Amino acid sequence: MSQRKIIIYGDSILRKKALPVSEINDEIIKLTEDMIETMYKAPGIGLAANQLGIDKQIIAVDLKVIDPQAKAFIIINPKIIASDGIDTNEEGCLSFPGINIEIKRSTYVKVEGINIKGEKIKLESENLLARILQHEIDHINGVLFIDHLNFVRKQLLRKELKELEFQFHQGT
Ligand code: CO
Repeated sequence: MSQRKIIIYGDSILRKKALPVSEINDEIIKLTEDMIETMYKAPGIGLAANQLGIDKQIIAVDLKVIDPQAKAFIIINPKIIASDGIDTNEEGCLSFPGINIEIKRSTYVKVEGINIKGEKIKLESENLLARILQHEIDHINGVLFIDHLNFVRKQLLRKELKELEFQFHQGT
């Protein structure tokens, strides 16, 4: 396992819809291990493969930083197949260091995808886990959490976003 560099806002890969995974080979397994390592060290509770610059539909979730009993898991080609409820809560993103914003999300989502063994899975989630899944599935579709803000709230963040883009263009 090795830690990889997290792509910061400003890089166009974060805006591209990632490609589905057609075969789980050694390269994919290594990538998922690195995603979990990178997320845990960041520290974060969710990560999408395109945040590491990899154009693939893979997300990782690890609640360990808030619950020591939690186990990290991976979903390949995840899709939301049902959702319910509305809740607003604060969210951060590893690609937007220092920015925490209130975002409206569904309180419940049902997700289907493939696990690391290649088996079809369905997962029902609520509250924080549902929020993370929506955030990460957005990522693999090229959608960022700031896209959920209205024009006025996005304007308020303009300075911070420009600063992140500037850092990206400086290559730091
Ligand atoms: Co994020």
